[in-house]
Amino acid sequence: MSDKTAKLTIGDDSYEFPVLSGTVGPDVIDIRSLYGQTGLFTYDPGFTSTAACDSAITYIDGDKGELLYRGYPIDQLAGQSSYLEVCYLLLYGELPTASELADFSTRVTRHTMVHEQMHYFFRGFRRDAHPMAIMTGVMGAMAAFYHDSTDISDPVQREIASIRMIAKTPTIAAMAYKYSVGQPFVYPRNDLDYAANFLHMCFAVPAEDYKVDPVVAKAMDRIFTLHADHEQNASTSTVRLSGSSDANPFACIAAGVACLWGPAHGGANEAALNMLRQIGSVDRIPEFIARAKDKNDPFRLMGFGHRVYKNYDPRAAVMQESAREVLDLLGVENNPTLQVAQELEKIALSDEYFVERKLYPNVDFYSGIILDAVGFPTSMFTAIFALSRTVGWIAQWKEMIGDPQKKIGRPRQLYNGAQARDYVGIDQR
Ligand code: CMC
Repeated sequence: MSDKTAKLTIGDDSYEFPVLSGTVGPDVIDIRSLYGQTGLFTYDPGFTSTAACDSAITYIDGDKGELLYRGYPIDQLAGQSSYLEVCYLLLYGELPTASELADFSTRVTRHTMVHEQMHYFFRGFRRDAHPMAIMTGVMGAMAAFYHDSTDISDPVQREIASIRMIAKTPTIAAMAYKYSVGQPFVYPRNDLDYAANFLHMCFAVPAEDYKVDPVVAKAMDRIFTLHADHEQNASTSTVRLSGSSDANPFACIAAGVACLWGPAHGGANEAALNMLRQIGSVDRIPEFIARAKDKNDPFRLMGFGHRVYKNYDPRAAVMQESAREVLDLLGVENNPTLQVAQELEKIALSDEYFVERKLYPNVDFYSGIILDAVGFPTSMFTAIFALSRTVGWIAQWKEMIGDPQKKIGRPRQLYNGAQARDYVGIDQR
């Protein structure tokens, strides 16, 4: 709370509202009493100036290009921490001690298998179903398979549901992949770490041994860490809004998955790689830059721009370094897609249109290149984003459930439709 207040004058009347301060970041004007005092609403489609909650999990300074999880900079976490350590940090607020991490890892790995009946559930999907369609359906269906952890008023059930989702989303995403390529599902291996287990479930087959390369597993773990949370983005806000009605946690996370699917959000990594392939060679870049700048053409440079970052996305910097490491390892350093990406980035960063609008590469610009090199089809990219983000959604959902100020989310509107009128019978229309 600060001593500052905000004054609003409407005609001859003036009103005062408290200004609240967080630990860092812009102050907010507390307008909860606005409607009561003035009979007016605020209008902010896209929530460009609206803080919808009070949170202590993730902080972004878009102008500086800074992203902090519980205060720790993302590059330090991506460089030094494991994904499960980051999960612990996001969920419980502090980095774990060695024994806390060991205990947490055991809890997660003990839940990696899915109910056997779920295998039949998967078989109901068409083979060519998009993995995100499967993820959306199966995450929601978890409420039917794990009904004993859907009572949100019980903290023990909330905790079990959280651990189940963090443990099982890699299994579900890997099953979606296996199903699409017609291979048998591979059960989780609890002797492998989180990322290595996911790679094993995706690429092992019963007919032969599959060894997970530690460099690839490390890159995968980093991708998970970089996507783990991103404060009140569209999918997280969807999870919070769904949870505000006291819906069960599996339903809330399924809603988040559905929202993430959109190409303006998590679907951008798939769209970015498809775009780089469509460009194909460095000499075609100017044509695509011109299209991106043309207001009569709906084309946008996918993987560029961000609602909050008006500077280089700090996740993209780590991702670019990781992409180089993985491509070097896999012997595809002359990968034409990477060459197009690097050149496109260079040209866009010096082009007046992009400079003026502060459009920098975002996390999705490079992640697709890594996932492609590792062997994932583009349709899996957003599913991998979803499995990484599950912990962030859960941390935010748990924070909201525990917030004494929690209220059902219910935005208002500026109504511009017809005024009240009488019904006209069909024979008189
Ligand atoms: N290519 C070309 N022009 C762009 C782009 C782009 N990628 N992004 C924004 N612009 C232009 C836009 O046309 C507008 O120009 P003008 O002011 O002349 O009308 C200006 O920049 C501001 O754009 P906006 O649409 O008002 O910005 P926004 O904050 O509503 O949109 C965005 C943010 C991420 C949806 C948008 O930048 C975009 O569509 N980017 C491509 C998709 C993408 O990469 N999304 C992934 C986001 S990061 C991952 C995640 O968090 O999910």
